[in-house]
Amino acid sequence: MESILRAVNLTRTFRVGGETIYAVNELSIDIPANSFTLFQGPSGSGKTTLLNLFGALDYPTSGEVWFRGADIAKLSDTKRDELLRNEIGFVFQSVALIGLMSAVENVDFRLRISGLSTEERRRRAEECLALVNLRQRMDHRPHELSGGEQQRVAIARAISNRPSVVFADEPTGELDTHSGLQVVKVFRELIETEGVTVVMTSHDPNMAELADHVVVMEDGKIVSIDGRETA
Ligand SMILES: Nc1ncnc2c1ncn2[C@@H]1O[C@H](COP(=O)(O)OP(=O)(O)OP(=O)(O)O)[C@@H](O)[C@H]1O
Ligand SMILES: [Mg+2]
Repeated sequence: MESILRAVNLTRTFRVGGETIYAVNELSIDIPANSFTLFQGPSGSGKTTLLNLFGALDYPTSGEVWFRGADIAKLSDTKRDELLRNEIGFVFQSVALIGLMSAVENVDFRLRISGLSTEERRRRAEECLALVNLRQRMDHRPHELSGGEQQRVAIARAISNRPSVVFADEPTGELDTHSGLQVVKVFRELIETEGVTVVMTSHDPNMAELADHVVVMEDGKIVSIDGRETA
């Protein structure tokens, strides 16, 4: 199985008030391409820190993150910007849509850095909203959408530039279980139709059944993968 992301002895520490916190501690894992990997674990176990390292939003204290065979800490600023622009999409717990723009305009806005023509952008924005089952809600502004619908617009925006990996940090944290599952089913479909790889964190045990791999973290380390304890 081809792995798209790899962490090798990855460590990220924070110094707070003379104390060193090991948010991610000597962690190693391979994330297979075109799969859905779910990270679970108690609050403070290092899930967000790990996602930020995988997504090149943060740098390791030691160890490495490989994205398709390249050590992302060693990329030039230009290459790192290209990676963020072309290969990676993010979905966060708080949705952060632009309030004055409709759903389709929010997705279109993300595509302005893509170099597509106005017509191509519009077509792709509509296509992405259709992929998340929001064809009927394209012209709604965020406050005219439910929480789950807003989160699906955020997913449409995150996949609009055809990234290889979508990182989703607690995307269902503010949703009820039903809307949460709907959002996650959208990820499942995107893995099949768009070939993306999804790396998500969630506290909700209901999400596990839709994932290909469930990784449980504690104190910055992986304690189990797919129910098997790791040393
Ligand atoms: N910027 C920072 N400065 C100092 N400490 C930090 C920073 N970011 C995270 N930490 C600490 O690192 C540890 C891991 O935090 P992280 O946010 O990765 O946990 P998490 O698993 O995402 O938790 P949650 O489920 O609550 O979102 C925590 O103890 C946290 O306090
Ligand atoms: Mg977190």
